[in-house]
Formats: sequence, structure tokens, C-alpha cells
Amino acid sequence: MKVKNVFPRPFGIVVCIFIAAFSIILQAQSKKVFKAPPSADEIKNPMPGDAASIIEGKKTYTTFCAACHGNKGKGDGVAAAGLQKPPADHTSAAVQSQSDGAIFWKLTNGNNPMPSYATLTPTQRWQLVNYIRTLAKSPKK
Ligand code: HEC
Repeated sequence: MKVKNVFPRPFGIVVCIFIAAFSIILQAQSKKVFKAPPSADEIKNPMPGDAASIIEGKKTYTTFCAACHGNKGKGDGVAAAGLQKPPADHTSAAVQSQSDGAIFWKLTNGNNPMPSYATLTPTQRWQLVNYIRTLAKSPKK
């Protein structure tokens, strides 16, 4: 049996190209991997991870980060459930195994829905890195 072609052939081709392009763009946006460039590992942390810096880092974290990442950094903040992507667990090996420079780069640049914090001073951002280090899972737990 022969099915009658209602649309001229080029129409189908144009529709296919359009759908393909659209889905590629959608995928690229939702799956943009959050990865710091290798050069970020070269950025050295100028702040010692001392008590003063950690206290300041904790204050900034509570103000700007805890809503999504949770007070203990587990990614379970009150706003976490409403996001299209879960906030990172800062206690995890996946985060803790990264260099200070990579974490600094990520919190500076963000990756939707993770906001960019380039507006915080570099000092505040390094204090955040130092505070995030204290959230590492204790090996005993
Ligand atoms: C609106 C919710 C939200 C807020 C507020 C937020 N984050 Fe995030 N954060 C996310 C999400 C979601 C991801 C995962 C993004 C991804 O994987 O693309 C993330 C990822 C990260 C990562 C990358 C972890 C990894 O997997 O390597 C770091 C570091 C980070 N956030 C630090 C912070 C810091 C520091 C603050 C506060 C200054 C903060 N975030 C505030 C939602 C948030």
C-alpha cells in the first residue's frame, strides 16, 4: 500500500533539522557539566585556613549558601527541593578532592541554578573555600 505524501518532501526535512537543533540546544543547557578549567588548579589560596578565616567563611556561607547547600553543606537546604538540579554535597569526596583553586573558580563563576558569587570580595570567597574544607565528612562517620 502506498501512503500518500501530504507535505512536500523538503518540509519534513526542515522540521527534522529544526527538532534536532532544538533538542541539542536544550540538552547542552541542562547538562552543562560544572567543571573548572585545569588552569583553576593553579590559583593558589592566599588565605591561611585559620580560625579567623573559617569563622568569617561560615558567616558568609550561612548568609549566601545555606539556603541551598544546607547549614552543614550536605546539599539539603530549604530551597534545594525546588531546583532543577540538586545542590552539591560539600561534605562529599567528589567536592573535597578538588583543589582550592577549582572550588574558588566554581563559586566565582556558578553554573545555573548555582549562582555566580563574583560580587563577593576575593577574601570572602577564599574564606568560603576554607570553611568548605571544614565540612569534609569525618572518616569515622
Ligand atoms: C540557588 C541555590 C544555590 C545557592 C544559593 C548556592 N549554590 Fe552552590 N550549587 C547549587 C547547585 C544546584 C549546584 C550544582 C550545580 C551543577 O552541578 O551544575 C551547586 C554547586 C556548587 C559547587 C560545586 C560543587 C561540585 O560539585 O564541584 C560549589 C563549590 C558551590 N556550589 C558552592 C557554593 C557556595 C560557596 C555558595 C554560597 C556563596 C553557594 N554554592 C550557593 C546551588 C546553590
